[in-house]
Amino acid sequence: MNQDDSRGPQPGLLTRVRRSIWREPWPESDRGRVRLTLNDLILHLHAPRVPQRALRATYSYGLGIFAIVLFGVLGFTGVLLTFTYTPSPNDAYASIQTLTAEIWIGALIRNMHHWSGNLLLIVSVLHLLRVFYTAAFHPPREFNWLLGLGLLALVALSNFTGYLMPWDQLAYWATTIATSMLNYVPVAGASIREFLVGGGDIGEFALRTFFAFHIVVFPPLLAIIISYHIWRVRKDTFSLPRALNEPPLDRRRIERVTTIPHLLNLEIGLALLALALLIAWSTWVPAPLEDAANPTHPPNPAKAAWYFMGFQELLLHFHPAFVTVVIPGLTLLGLFLLPYTDADPRPERNVTGIWFRSRRGRWLAALSALLGAGLTAALVVADEHWLDLPALFGGLPTAISNGAVPIGALALGLVVYYWSLGRQGATRSERNLALFTLLFAAFLTLTVIGVFFRGENMALVLPWNR
Ligand code: HEM
Repeated sequence: MNQDDSRGPQPGLLTRVRRSIWREPWPESDRGRVRLTLNDLILHLHAPRVPQRALRATYSYGLGIFAIVLFGVLGFTGVLLTFTYTPSPNDAYASIQTLTAEIWIGALIRNMHHWSGNLLLIVSVLHLLRVFYTAAFHPPREFNWLLGLGLLALVALSNFTGYLMPWDQLAYWATTIATSMLNYVPVAGASIREFLVGGGDIGEFALRTFFAFHIVVFPPLLAIIISYHIWRVRKDTFSLPRALNEPPLDRRRIERVTTIPHLLNLEIGLALLALALLIAWSTWVPAPLEDAANPTHPPNPAKAAWYFMGFQELLLHFHPAFVTVVIPGLTLLGLFLLPYTDADPRPERNVTGIWFRSRRGRWLAALSALLGAGLTAALVVADEHWLDLPALFGGLPTAISNGAVPIGALALGLVVYYWSLGRQGATRSERNLALFTLLFAAFLTLTVIGVFFRGENMALVLPWNR
């Protein structure tokens, strides 16, 4: 029995609904009850008191909260869109046109859905980078890192399946390119493509399958895993920011504040800020809509969605089996194993909460980012103008001349880099940080080149000459 029960019988449900509609003042006991219920809900998600340090904005940058807000916006605007959207090749494009031109705030709803989907992907990657560079995935949070990787994959797949919905040239050809990459996946690739697209070209079958995944399969899965992810944050406790060389914290002695109102105010503030920015952006910047899809007339260049452009760029340089299986497979394996191989179990070597681990870690991050971006750009230009590996290794199958040989050479370069850092005294975690940074910078550079520096026939051009 709580305090308010002692104040006599409570009004019935209908009375309370009527009061809330007509804004009649709530009796003190009801207000207390509502507040208690809300507090209860919040304290299910958070501990009653949290370390003061957990509130530092320059640690988590509120990226997890931003991701939740964006997911909420996607759900809300997505439901509204389904009232007008028709998932058939004949009507999809027209239904989007009707929505944006004739329905009150229809364009705003579509813009918000489009931008929050793209932003959720960007925010999830930034959140992953924050977690990685503050070593927040070290035990006891290693399982939450794995859940996060699953979330990232689902967010990418949700974006990918949504991309086809407008049925314009952009949607049609980007999906055609992405699904045709599946043909290069040995063993299961063709069957997966057939399952998604139904054999042949993108058409009615593909649109229905993508629509089903986009609205029935992925959103509930995301909702379940996000809830579990957040619950685990509470179970594993927040990682806490530490200054460079600050010794591990004694969690029993650190200063704490009450979750309500301190953490709650911060979260509500961040959520409102995210919403305000999103609405402002969506009011001024329309989501793209090109001409209606024309399956007989591909644009030149035909590009995948921006988040797959790194892969499309890789396909211009390496054998497809390496681009679709070997490189993503090894990257995923590395990311999955990371939390189990990165942390040093000795308490005095614990680096959780320290940005970039150490002073050396900071230097290594900067150096590796420059190396990754610079070498990638140089190799892309060299491959475009001078390198011709199949000719150089004439007679060998392209899986070797354009796959095993160059990928093997690059892998050897990475092994030597990793090994030489060890010789310089870098810890395993610092070496992993260097390798991760180099690879991430390389992929980012490939994406930027693919999106901005590829013109007609996918030739390299300056963005302003496209
Ligand atoms: C839909 C995507 C995601 C949502 C909604 C989400 C949400 C959150 C929230 C609210 C927090 C607590 C506050 C914060 O750190 O900002 C958090 C923490 C965490 N997230 Fe995520 N997250 C997502 C994706 C990811 C990804 C991609 C990863 C990494 C692979 C990840 C790994 C973690 C870890 C390890 C923590 C604990 C961090 C700490 O205690 O410092 N999450 N997430």
